[in-house]
Amino acid sequence: MTAKSPTALITGASRGIGAAIAQELTAQGYEVIGTSTKGGNGLLPLDLLDPNGPAALAKSLSGRTIDLLVCNAGLYLDKDQSLADGYPSEMWATEFAVNVTGVFLTVQAFLPALKPTHDKTGGKIAIISSQMASHTRAPGGSYIYRASKAAALNLGRNLATDLKSEGVAVGIYHPGWVQTDMGGMEAEISAEQSAKGLSDRFAALSLTTTGCFETWDGRAHAY
Ligand SMILES: NC(=O)c1ccc[n+]([C@@H]2O[C@H](COP(=O)([O-])OP(=O)(O)OC[C@H]3O[C@@H](n4cnc5c(N)ncnc54)[C@H](OP(=O)(O)O)[C@@H]3O)[C@@H](O)[C@H]2O)c1
Repeated sequence: MTAKSPTALITGASRGIGAAIAQELTAQGYEVIGTSTKGGNGLLPLDLLDPNGPAALAKSLSGRTIDLLVCNAGLYLDKDQSLADGYPSEMWATEFAVNVTGVFLTVQAFLPALKPTHDKTGGKIAIISSQMASHTRAPGGSYIYRASKAAALNLGRNLATDLKSEGVAVGIYHPGWVQTDMGGMEAEISAEQSAKGLSDRFAALSLTTTGCFETWDGRAHAY
C-alpha cells in the first residue's frame, strides 16, 4: 500500500513566496491547496479582507486533513508613508485585517483539520512573518507593517503554547529579503531560494521546537 501524500494549504499562493512554496512542496510530494484573493488557475478564492473568508474556505474543504498550514498571504501598503502626515487609519485597518486578523481567523478555521487523527502527530502551522517583526532590530519607518508582523509573531508564539497539548506545532519565519512584488527586484534572494529554505524549516518543526522564530536559512531570529 502506498502512503497517502501529506496535504499543505498555503494562503497567497498566486505569486511571490507563496507560489514558490507551493511549487517546492508539490515537488516534495505534497498535495497543495493554494489560495489567492480571486481564485482561478487551480487556486481557491480567499480574500482575508472578508472576515468570513477563512471559515467559508474551511467549510468547503471539510473532511480534508491539513498536515501543514502556511499563513503566507500578506500586504505591505505603508512602504513610503511619511511620519509627519502619512499612515492613515484605513491603511492600518486594511493591513492588520490581512496580516494579523487574517492569520488568526485562518488558523482558527483550520484547527479541526490540523488536529491529530489516527496517530499522535498533529499538523503544523507556519506563519510567514518578517525580520521587521523584531523589536530588537528597530531601524524606524514602515510602522504599520512592522506592527502587523510583530503581532503575527506574537500570535504564533501564543498559539504554540495553546496548541502544544493538541499535538500541533507552530513556527514563525522570516523568509529573507525576497525578489517579489513586495520585496522588489533588488532584493537579496529569489523566491525559489526562500521557499527551499522555508520548506526545510517546516520539515524540522516539531513539538520540541514549537514557537520558534527562525530565518529562512535556519538561524534563530532575535525577537
Ligand atoms: N518579499 C519579501 O522580501 C518579504 C520579506 C519578509 C516577509 N515577507 C512576507 O512574506 C509573505 C509573502 O510575501 P511576497 O513577497 O510573496 O508578497 P507578494 O508577492 O506581494 O504576494 C502577496 C500574496 O498575498 C496575497 N494577498 C494579498 N492580499 C490578500 C488578501 N486580502 N487576502 C488574501 N490574500 C492576499 C496575494 O494574492 P493576490 O495575488 O490574489 O493578490 C499574493 O498571493 C508576506 O506575508 C510578506 O509580508 C516578504
